Amino acid sequence: MTAVAPRVTPEQVAHYDRPGPRYTSYPTAVEFNASFAPADYAGRLAAAAERRDAPLSVYTHLPFCAERCLFCACHVIASPLGSRVTEPYLAHLFREIELVAAALPGRRRVSQYHWGGGTPTYLSVAEIHALLDQFERYFSFEAGAEIAIEVDPRVTTAEQLAALRSRGFNRISLGVQDLDPVVQEAIGRVQPRAVTAATVDEARRLGFRGINIDLIYGLPHQTLASFRALVDSVVELAPDRLAIYSFAYVPWLKGNQKKLDTDVLPDRDTKIALILEARERLIAAGYRAIGMDHFARPDDELSSALDAGRLQRNFMGYTVHEAADQIGLGVSAIGLVQNAYAQNHKKLSDYYADVDAGRFPVERGYALSADDRLRADVIQSLMCGFAVDWTAIERRHGVDFADYFAAELPQVEALAAEGLAEVDADGIRVTPLGQLFVRNLAMCFDRYLPATQRSPTPRFSRTI
Ligand SMILES: C[S@@+](CC[C@H](N)C(=O)[O-])C[C@H]1O[C@@H](n2cnc3c(N)ncnc32)[C@H](O)[C@@H]1O
Ligand code: SF4
Repeated sequence: MTAVAPRVTPEQVAHYDRPGPRYTSYPTAVEFNASFAPADYAGRLAAAAERRDAPLSVYTHLPFCAERCLFCACHVIASPLGSRVTEPYLAHLFREIELVAAALPGRRRVSQYHWGGGTPTYLSVAEIHALLDQFERYFSFEAGAEIAIEVDPRVTTAEQLAALRSRGFNRISLGVQDLDPVVQEAIGRVQPRAVTAATVDEARRLGFRGINIDLIYGLPHQTLASFRALVDSVVELAPDRLAIYSFAYVPWLKGNQKKLDTDVLPDRDTKIALILEARERLIAAGYRAIGMDHFARPDDELSSALDAGRLQRNFMGYTVHEAADQIGLGVSAIGLVQNAYAQNHKKLSDYYADVDAGRFPVERGYALSADDRLRADVIQSLMCGFAVDWTAIERRHGVDFADYFAAELPQVEALAAEGLAEVDADGIRVTPLGQLFVRNLAMCFDRYLPATQRSPTPRFSRTI
């Protein structure tokens, strides 16, 4: 459903602007805890091993960046390019691959493989080959697998791109954020447009599909005029996809963000105007709005997945080839195996210590209950298809929707009365206005939110 951009009043913006999860998982990572131990993860992997014919999704976290951008909220280890940090890291990652492979005898086919970070192209060409050699020693890619990487154009060479392509990588996502030199200076990330353009051109020449550009709205010094120019300039680069993320300002979690000058952050009315403007311009330029913050050309796989109801959302964002079991490898990586989330240690020394001891380096996790799975399904339906079909949910989970959500439905109906959704005998349909505030609708179904909201420390970025 690609709708024209809705009009929003400052009162509506103020009304819906509150801390809230982005729901890349449900329950959110805030609920993960250490009572889910490495032995629990081993149990889940053993159960996963039984499903011999099912492909896997595998995420690998490569945390290093040459420098830390001031806005960044990712799990990053900053170290100048060329330092030897990658040697011990890869040695441990190789060992972790062996540990996981040993737990999955007979289940080694991969339909989705993703390198994220940090900056995966911090690795040299030789290291890229070595990591893939090690992975492919144990696992194999299915025909048509999605093999994706996140790159920082400032440190990515044509040789690295050629190496990745030659080894089967077919999707690429470029971090850009903004092209305005004033904004770039303020966020500590100077990246001339020509550098981005050269990376896009080279990726296209090499045959990467689904070329994505990441932008962020809500950064210092952004204005309606500057954002308009940014979107037009990015459209000229003709990416297949764009992710336009709301700036997650979480200085209590990410000390680097404390260095940003808050006086020059756009206020929330400006912030919402930026995404509305971007949406209108991208739709006019032929892109389709996908889920909460993505845009794709009509011939891109994300668009066809949206039409076919196959769109999914996980820690990697909106995706198509997600498998039932998702393995996370590397420091801080999160997996979802047999209905349990497992997150690796965030501290490198802890990650190394567990791997050295031959243990899964799991720091915390969460085993989903039937209630969690049901709510996760409803929230996914809202975030991906902007709709919830009562019958489909009832069939999948064996519940009567109206009975089960008797406490939640009045909250949804109240938001519907304000114009965010339509609720009828078949289900919920999110309106174009509600698509902007879909996190608020999803929050109605989050059983954990009331407790998290009572926490004295903020846990989530704001919904606007
Ligand atoms: C791992 S980075 C992408 C690859 C590479 N490190 C780079 O920056 O070019 C993932 C993306 O997360 C997004 N991101 C990081 N910090 C963010 C924040 N505080 N709010 C919103 N998006 C953020 C950025 O758009 C960034 O491109
Ligand atoms: S935005 Fe990308 S390059 Fe910048 S610090 Fe974060 S992960 Fe590293």
